[in-house]
Amino acid sequence: MKTKIIDLLTPHIEGMSSEEISTLIEIPPRPEMGDFAFPCFRLAKLMHKAPNAIAADIRAAIGDVDFLEKIEVQGAYLNFYVKTEVFVKSMIDAASDKNFGSSDIGQNKVICIDYSSPNVAKNFHVGHLRTTIIGNSLYKIFSKLGYQVVRINHLGDWGTQFGKLIVAYKAWGSKEAVEKDGIAELMKLYVKFHEEADKNPELVDEARAWFAKMENGDEEALSIWQWFKDISLVEYKRTYDLLGMDFDYYLGESFYRDKCQAVVEKLTDAGLLKESEGAMIVDLSEYNMAPCIVTKKDGSSIYATRDLAAIFYRKDTYHFSKCLYVTGQEQKLHFAQVFKVVELLGNEWAKDSLIHIPYGLVSLEGAKLSTRSGNIIYAEDLLHDAISKSLEIITEKSPNLPNKEKVSRMVGVGAILFNDLYNQRIKDVSFSWDKVLNFDGETGPYVQYTHARCSSVVRLAEDFDPEKVIDYSVITEPDAIDLLKELSRFPEVITDAAEKYEPSIVARFAVDVAQAFNKFYNSTRIHVPEEHIKQARVMLAYLTKNTLHDALELLGIRAPEAM
Ligand code: ARG
Repeated sequence: MKTKIIDLLTPHIEGMSSEEISTLIEIPPRPEMGDFAFPCFRLAKLMHKAPNAIAADIRAAIGDVDFLEKIEVQGAYLNFYVKTEVFVKSMIDAASDKNFGSSDIGQNKVICIDYSSPNVAKNFHVGHLRTTIIGNSLYKIFSKLGYQVVRINHLGDWGTQFGKLIVAYKAWGSKEAVEKDGIAELMKLYVKFHEEADKNPELVDEARAWFAKMENGDEEALSIWQWFKDISLVEYKRTYDLLGMDFDYYLGESFYRDKCQAVVEKLTDAGLLKESEGAMIVDLSEYNMAPCIVTKKDGSSIYATRDLAAIFYRKDTYHFSKCLYVTGQEQKLHFAQVFKVVELLGNEWAKDSLIHIPYGLVSLEGAKLSTRSGNIIYAEDLLHDAISKSLEIITEKSPNLPNKEKVSRMVGVGAILFNDLYNQRIKDVSFSWDKVLNFDGETGPYVQYTHARCSSVVRLAEDFDPEKVIDYSVITEPDAIDLLKELSRFPEVITDAAEKYEPSIVARFAVDVAQAFNKFYNSTRIHVPEEHIKQARVMLAYLTKNTLHDALELLGIRAPEAM
């Protein structure tokens, strides 16, 4: 429809391309003002003429148009009123396309997404849950737009903390305890190390020595480290399975340990490295940043060095057009430094292809969670809680529902995901069960429930066939038109979400569609005796069902047929 309006305007406007006209066209805030509006302020500047006079001229030049009810001049605006039937048909046709929302703007482009990336031997907490959920949704959104997306789990599996853990394990640990309690036991050993090291600082030297052994390829050190890593991965994979998520590569920091030397050489050759208190750094004071430390006093690499190595490896291996990093805001400086260093090495592409995507904190009933406090929440436990609470609610609401367990899994997990995605990612998320699992609120379960309701509407109309041509002229109720208008936003919602790296735009769209459908459902009987009216109304439920399904899919959430 918008294209048709652009085609109408273009021949009557000199000095402005269809693209420019397209960006100026607005959707009026109120239906009384028409379906599309074209403001003439910009033209007024170009033509040195009053905008309302220009609007009137264009109006006269266009004449009568078959698909329009009318065109009105209101001040500086031209308002277009599309004939309802034409509008309805175009919206239904668009939404019926099985590729509705998909596009190929990303064709032949690779996007790497570095997300989740928990730290080995530490628990997978709600902060990591957020990067996992946001990263996964960005993966789905960009894939929908035709990009080839590479999902990378940059595990925190290297660093001095493993030296500490080996010391602690040898002094106070046992194979049995680690095998039995996994990460929980490793975290206890880590805490114990810090308690003991306060009294006996020599332990820190011992730990450093063990990490040095790791870096030098010592067999014993590496086999203990590998064992810690395997144990951690088993637990992380349980969480990913619950979430129904996966990665293309698990390439942790350790993968880059033999690639750091090349980074140091590049920096040396470029004359960028400086010594500072024994460490080697890149001075970034010119850019108002603290220096980027590249090697420590003892020559070992650090987090930033491994990130630099990872960037070059990924660029050479995947030829990305963009590489996205989804982490908490507290790593803002780290990424700014690393990206700057890559740029200073003469890589212009660093400027707009390396992108940090920060997000806010998750607080559980207001309490900030941290692994060091006693207040340890494992993502896995949170998900299991959500599933069992959902089972209780579903059992109460729909006692006869078959496969309640399976549905509760979709609903419980979906509720957690939706809560993390509904608000702008940079905002902090407060978590409360009442809010997350409210079936009537702006929640995952509400959207899923609406999807299930649409499914049941379609199921009940046994002879409904989405392939059959329907009678568009019977769709006239304002609630039906509003619903169609909501649905037709889907393609631009997806591109907008991708441009802003903001899955919340999709989540909000899902709620808007669900609300519009429920309004329509409450005001309009669908299963009426007149066959052609029934078919047309069921079609709306059918399109809503598909669109909600696809929107939830973009968020990583499954859509049950009944609940
Ligand atoms: N392991 C880090 C953490 O838990 C996140 C890693 C993010 N990715 C990266 N390439 N630095 O904070």
